[in-house]
Amino acid sequence: MKVRHFVIVLLLVSNITFSSGFLDVFVAAASVVYTYFERDDLLPFDSKRLEEDLRENFFGQHIASNVIRRAVSSFMTDSKPNKPLALSFHGTSGTGKNHAAKIIARNVYEKGEDSKHVHTFISEHHFPHKQKLDLYSAQLKQWIHESVSRFPRSMFIFDEMDKMHPQLIDAIKPFLDYNARVDGVSFRKAIFVFLSNAGGDVITGVTLDFWREGNIRENLWMDSKELEIKISQNIFNDKNSGFLHSNIIDEHLVDHYIPFLPLELKHVRQCVMVEMVHLNVTQDSDLADEVARDMPYFPKEERIYAVKGCKSVRQKLAQHID
Ligand SMILES: Nc1ncnc2c1ncn2[C@@H]1O[C@H](COP(=O)(O)OP(=O)(O)OP(=O)(O)O)[C@@H](O)[C@H]1O
Ligand SMILES: [Mg+2]
Repeated sequence: MKVRHFVIVLLLVSNITFSSGFLDVFVAAASVVYTYFERDDLLPFDSKRLEEDLRENFFGQHIASNVIRRAVSSFMTDSKPNKPLALSFHGTSGTGKNHAAKIIARNVYEKGEDSKHVHTFISEHHFPHKQKLDLYSAQLKQWIHESVSRFPRSMFIFDEMDKMHPQLIDAIKPFLDYNARVDGVSFRKAIFVFLSNAGGDVITGVTLDFWREGNIRENLWMDSKELEIKISQNIFNDKNSGFLHSNIIDEHLVDHYIPFLPLELKHVRQCVMVEMVHLNVTQDSDLADEVARDMPYFPKEERIYAVKGCKSVRQKLAQHID
């Protein structure tokens, strides 16, 4: 921020002091300085680092892990992408949608999710009043436009996408398009991530059927059981999905609809082990097992999937330590 102020002050002073020829050179130099400081938050992209991060910190999500790794890596290493990257994460609660968005952020920006270039919108928090939709829509467009014009590699996370009004989704649409250029600004380097529970039940159903048929979870892929088609049809037809009536699906502006599978006991156990590190307690696999078993599971008969995924694992662990 200080740098920005410094450059603005210099520009103002120069405007008064210098001749216009000199001013052009000065403006160019100032812009280089400004871009340099704005860039310092961008990490040199390393696909191996992303792969490792996903392998070590993202549990039970082999499909999401694979699609995210491939999509983010090819996008980040493409010097001229023809559209921004748009990923849509779907799954029930606590399966790691926000967690995966954070993993992407920390592989793109030095400050990860805390970078000023990562913008998170939560539907019910940022856009609570239906009667203000016109205002929200204008503000959202302006925010995205200004952020990307300042820093092309900006990231936008839309949480609770299923609660987002179609009018707001349509406001984002022009930015997602192929060769998108809005008022002279190109959006091709931006990253959009949509998070929602829409499609979660379909994903759970498919995963459960697959398990009941005696298959190994890791053999479930997007093309098996037409998972991707089922997800997009489901979210498109779901009354509770913000995507309903939005042209985003029709126009194929989302690059990947990514299923987050319901988590099993063994994944929850892995989450408990991670939380032990966060709480500064010695990792203990017996205790991890005990805590994981203390979480609720469904369906009633088989009790195979964690009702809350890895959510509130930390709180549960804290109870066990007390
Ligand atoms: N697949 C996972 N691998 C590792 N940790 C996970 C995973 N899923 C969840 N977690 C842990 O649980 C916490 C809660 O998960 P997260 O907020 O990502 O869930 P979510 O899918 O966004 O849920 P919701 O739909 O309720 O918003 C994360 O911060 C992370 O610590
Ligand atoms: Mg979430």
